[in-house]
Amino acid sequence: MKEKEIEDLIADKSFETDIFNKADKIRKENFGDGVHLRALIEFSNYCSRNCLYCGLRRDNNKLKRYRMSSKEILSCAKKAFDMGFKTVVLQSGEDLFFKTKDLCDIVYKIKRDYGLRVTLSAGVLKKSDYSDLKNSGVDRYLLKFETSDKKLYEYLKPDSVFGDRLKAIEILKELNYQTGSGIMAGLPGQNDKILAKDLKLIKNMELDMVSVGPFISDPDTPLKNYSTIEESKMIKILALTRILSPFSHMPATTSMGVLYPNGRKKALLAGANVLMPDITPGIYGENYRIYPGKNIKDPEDNVNEIKDMLSSISRHISYEFGDSIRGGFYGKNS
Ligand code: 5AD
Ligand code: SF4
Repeated sequence: MKEKEIEDLIADKSFETDIFNKADKIRKENFGDGVHLRALIEFSNYCSRNCLYCGLRRDNNKLKRYRMSSKEILSCAKKAFDMGFKTVVLQSGEDLFFKTKDLCDIVYKIKRDYGLRVTLSAGVLKKSDYSDLKNSGVDRYLLKFETSDKKLYEYLKPDSVFGDRLKAIEILKELNYQTGSGIMAGLPGQNDKILAKDLKLIKNMELDMVSVGPFISDPDTPLKNYSTIEESKMIKILALTRILSPFSHMPATTSMGVLYPNGRKKALLAGANVLMPDITPGIYGENYRIYPGKNIKDPEDNVNEIKDMLSSISRHISYEFGDSIRGGFYGKNS
């Protein structure tokens, strides 16, 4: 698909059944009806950066900051293991407090004691840090590029350089991480032309994991007055992403669920095959406020709700590792 064609499809307001059917067919052919659950542990909400859209930005002094101790992170990983999860995602702001060595130690223990796949999402780091973390056992890394428009990127992330982000994603791939990236859709200033370019870049990156979620305006950020993308457009963007990236795992993001009724279910019907239930202890999780509206639930209730939702669309939880299907990592789901 050419960029202009993608742009026209995004701009077109009509409901195109074709696109959804195609996305759903690709999802079914490549991933089947099993949905992978990745248990999310938000281990620190400190952030040294000041992204305009994000509630964790350093200038947001309304947020109560926390860091989980190594012990707390490990007990959360044990909980994930006991509940039958196969992957934990360790996510934080760009917190300079955690040294790579500390993270390596935590990851090493999670792998040794529970044999879980570990995904890390902790922002841009030096190549040597990515390398040490890989050697300690991190399997996957998530680093969204957020938008492919350099000017918009650097406006929204005033202390970041777009090229550094792309370089970091390249390094992750070079180091043989299962690499995830993606964007937010509906960012202020992101028109359909930019969105088409975003999707094309996602495709060209040949990612193992792709995340596309709606921007949600947070009242404690400079973007407090901006509106969000309309539901039908958002879902079409997800379907197009699936068509353009047929072999990438794709989550139905929490932000979809926060913004639209049955949002995650709709995403699963438009190509998504992954869910990321939050298992961060409530006293912390409620302060991991990237955007408002996150509903803190008990992890067991969360999974029960997911089971019901999946059975209503003839899908089910997969208990495989859900590694990249691009190959070159461990063989298929070994
Ligand atoms: N709305 C939606 N997603 C957001 N993120 C950050 N702020 C917002 C927001 N206001 C997402 C970004 C980032 C991740 C930490 O959370 O995509 O990569
Ligand atoms: Fe920090 Fe990431 Fe939020 Fe930016 S998007 S303020 S780097 S947590």
